[in-house]
Amino acid sequence: MEIKTVKGFKDILGIDAILFNEIQKLSYNIANAFGYKLIVLPTVEYAELFDRSVGNTTDIVEKEMFTFDDKGGRTLSLRPEMTASVARSFIEHHMETNPMPLKFFYFGQCFRYENPQKGRYREFYQLGIEALGDISPILDVEVIQIALKIIEHFNIKNLKVKINSIGCRVCRPKYKETLTEALKPHYNELCSDCQRRLYTNPLRVLDCKKEKDSLKESLPKITDYLCDECMEHFEEVKKLLTELKIPFEVDNTLVRGLDYYTKTVFEVVSEDLGAQNALLGGGRYDYLIEDLGGRKTPGVGFALGVERFIEILKARNYKIPDNKKIYIAYDKKFSSTAFKIRDSLIPDFIVEIDPKGDSIKKQIERASRREINFVCILGEDEFSENSVSIKDMEKGNQIKVKIDELKESIKELINNA
Ligand code: HAM
Repeated sequence: MEIKTVKGFKDILGIDAILFNEIQKLSYNIANAFGYKLIVLPTVEYAELFDRSVGNTTDIVEKEMFTFDDKGGRTLSLRPEMTASVARSFIEHHMETNPMPLKFFYFGQCFRYENPQKGRYREFYQLGIEALGDISPILDVEVIQIALKIIEHFNIKNLKVKINSIGCRVCRPKYKETLTEALKPHYNELCSDCQRRLYTNPLRVLDCKKEKDSLKESLPKITDYLCDECMEHFEEVKKLLTELKIPFEVDNTLVRGLDYYTKTVFEVVSEDLGAQNALLGGGRYDYLIEDLGGRKTPGVGFALGVERFIEILKARNYKIPDNKKIYIAYDKKFSSTAFKIRDSLIPDFIVEIDPKGDSIKKQIERASRREINFVCILGEDEFSENSVSIKDMEKGNQIKVKIDELKESIKELINNA
């Protein structure tokens, strides 16, 4: 039997791999510039971590976890997301003793047993940030701003930011009661999951992809039930977003698919992904760390789906700022000089050295099949003059320059093109 990738898992190849690398690099640089530090977390956690954080009546925990017993009888899960792991790490390493807020950036794979389709996989990558230890709405806005900064860095504009507030443990119970009452007459229209969750976690109905939008929109709005503190917080977030000219729309049906959220929740959606798929999602989670056994520490963050971002970049024809490609064709006698020349050009250019070192003509022919911009030729004449000939593969012309002027000469040729 031919062995292939497992359903929902994939290789990341070619342009996707290049974009993946760009996203990882640039997102880290941007988050880091805002003071977010890299945290690298394990892929496997105790299953209980996600039960107690993401919530045991969510689709993620009920249906989508890769959970197994290891040989020591521990019940473990491949992480379906990373916020819970950040919270676990915060508690485990007594980070509450640090000055707050603590800010983290992460990048890594997550696993959800979902039905694979475009932009939806069983193994996928998330990048995200979490700011822990401060209740200020300024941090909610900072997190949204960083998300957009990362996206805009790739020249992607006009994505829709949807926000909502889902209250806290003071105001949400009243809303849940009202919602349950409003849903009861629609019991028979609900999918079997929502019928079951109606009395335990009715907010999940708002997040269920099977329920009709018209039903969701007809239900009471959570923002009409917010306590003063949550209302003030939401107003402040909206005011700051407006002042920063960050376009957003309030979506009262937005509750998100994870149970740990309080107050602000948000998503960024794009037409390029289809209606069901958000590019990124996030929000505030002021009880999560406390619920996992830590000291009361509020938090806010987001995570972006890397594969979905790659889809958008490809749909919008994103051009990676290209490093020019150089090929070194040389007389075999001068291999070590050829190596030295390559060394002097890296990392300003992508430099390949011909592996065979046969006739210069043949080497230039090989270069012409490899999308090379310039071939640097090191033959007898060049070597005796301490020089290199640069052949511009697009224009076909050739100039000879001294070896120690090579890098600058290539840059000049590029600038004058
Ligand atoms: P989430 O909305 O479940 O939130 O996931 C965040 C992003 O991960 C989604 O917007 C989507 O781009 C991507 N994603 C989710 N599932 C899949 C999948 N099966 N295939 C491909 N991409 C997927 C969270 O995970 C929260 N931890 C976000 C957060 C951070 N909230 C606060 N801090």
